[in-house]
Amino acid sequence: MGQDEGKRLAAEAALEYVEEDTIVGVGTGSTVDRFIDALAAKRMKLQGAVSSSEASTQRLRSHGIDVVDLNSAGRLSLYVDGADESNRFLQLIKGGGGALTREKIVASASDRFVCIADESKLVDVLGAFPLPVEVIPMARSTVARELVRLGGRPELRQGFTTDNGNVILDVHGLSITEPLKLEQTLNNIPGVVTNGLFALRPADVLLLGSASGVRRVDPE
Ligand code: 5RP
Repeated sequence: MGQDEGKRLAAEAALEYVEEDTIVGVGTGSTVDRFIDALAAKRMKLQGAVSSSEASTQRLRSHGIDVVDLNSAGRLSLYVDGADESNRFLQLIKGGGGALTREKIVASASDRFVCIADESKLVDVLGAFPLPVEVIPMARSTVARELVRLGGRPELRQGFTTDNGNVILDVHGLSITEPLKLEQTLNNIPGVVTNGLFALRPADVLLLGSASGVRRVDPE
């Protein structure tokens, strides 16, 4: 069984957390795609979904699920999203798909964040996956210089523009031992919209899919 099957199992396990007649926050990525498909297959009666990207919006609508604006949805009880890495405190690196800013907004508007992933995503120390940073285009070079000063090797994600019209710098070479501190430091650089560390608002539950089934991980 490969990572694909692990993603599918984790995505299906997240259905247990979804309550009928609610608005669900929906993340972005291949694992979330499976969650959206599973939601539709179950024909669950929902008020709708708040989406974190144009890609997820399209997929939700293709299944006939209403997409609701966050401004009219109010606070959400549940957000379901994937991750590129998680440590045992359920602090995450996200943004491999470039949707980090909207994902962070919807996660912060939600009471419970259920993260779904295959087992390869659980790591001891965050940072082997390059940390995505969304940047206003005119600040690309100044932000990159600051990221080098902080010990990283930023690379412009080529040919990619976020749903918000910005660019992504993927920062290599960071060993992130203090995720909370780094998340705040990066967010204070002028021109940074946000970064892919989810430490201020970590996940509440991690569902890890693997050959042996789905393992629930709670934060240490
Ligand atoms: C998108 C994300 C995704 O959740 C993350 O990249 C994981 O993706 P996948 O489920 O395809 O492994 O943060 O911005």
